[in-house]
Amino acid sequence: MTLRNLPKPFFVLAPMDDVTDTVFRQIISDCAPADVYFTEFVNVDGLQSAGREKLMPKLRFTDKERPLIAQVWGKNPENFYKTALLITELGFDGMDLNFGCPEKNVVRSGVCSAFILPENRDLAIEIIKACQRGLVDGAKIKNDQKSGGDNKNIFTPLPLSVKTRVGFNSVDLTWHELLLNQKLNMLTIHGRTRKQMSKVPADWEIIGQVRQLRDKISPATLIVGNGDVLSRSQGEALAKQHNLDGVMVGRGIFHDPFVFAHNESGVSPWDSMSKEAKIALYRKHVELFAKTWKNNERKLITLNKFCKIYINGFDGAKELREKLMVCTSADELLALL
Ligand SMILES: Cc1cc2nc3c(=O)[nH]c(=O)nc-3n(C[C@H](O)[C@H](O)[C@H](O)COP(=O)(O)O)c2cc1C
Repeated sequence: MTLRNLPKPFFVLAPMDDVTDTVFRQIISDCAPADVYFTEFVNVDGLQSAGREKLMPKLRFTDKERPLIAQVWGKNPENFYKTALLITELGFDGMDLNFGCPEKNVVRSGVCSAFILPENRDLAIEIIKACQRGLVDGAKIKNDQKSGGDNKNIFTPLPLSVKTRVGFNSVDLTWHELLLNQKLNMLTIHGRTRKQMSKVPADWEIIGQVRQLRDKISPATLIVGNGDVLSRSQGEALAKQHNLDGVMVGRGIFHDPFVFAHNESGVSPWDSMSKEAKIALYRKHVELFAKTWKNNERKLITLNKFCKIYINGFDGAKELREKLMVCTSADELLALL
């Protein structure tokens, strides 16, 4: 990746399941591009099973969405190893491990945010090591293919990153210390514990403390802060205050698809966008959705989340939304729009 030549701070579009698919990433890239993109999280145990084909659409992308990091989750280190090979082969720019998802059933099976718990940390480290091996082997395979065996080392192993929280039940920096000792290329911290889910404001002071740990343990690891950022200027101020390398924005994109726009005034182009322009943007999204997702690969209902983004902030928006949200085909949506 090009994680090496990113601006400081760089802005990342957060992974959001059923939201940040290739379609939405392309739309954002056209509005005001992020510096880095993530896929939705994809399960490695599913990817390495007979169910692979069902999950592969989550790994679809175009060159507009680069640099793009594939985010994965799961339990079996061998499947993480094989997925590291796959991610390299598919041409992603990096691999990220989801060690932060707070969902009950995920935690019950001892993965994602449950890796923060001391009893699960050995497995988390085994998984990181399996991925690091897989990324090295993946680069070797690519070099062999490219050079016909005389190994010119054109491809270097993809960067590995982790996205996690500040603790499980309470803040626990021993977890970040352990992660930083694995020489990750990047570490993204969502400033809440698992217990807090999304109920309290993100604590950027703790994210700053992880950055201080990074300075001591692993200066080369990029630190990205995440939680509650709604504008570029807010993200820039937080990055400056805590001396972070990057800022990740998730739900902020629901309020402003131009959240990554550079603007001296601090005012986003979205604020002054006409009703017609907003409707045209949703049309573009629906058209790209219909072109990309065939045979019910993605349910039409997933578009309703986006309807609330674009069809908003003008007279008659609510009434139009109510009609759009009960449409049963892309053609019907486009006709109404
Ligand atoms: C609808 C939705 C889906 C999400 N899916 C993922 C995911 O697949 N992987 C992940 O690491 N985090 C996921 N998250 C968490 C976000 O990436 C982010 O950490 C969280 O929303 C806090 O950032 P924000 O306040 O900027 O939204 C999801 C969040 C939302 C709202």
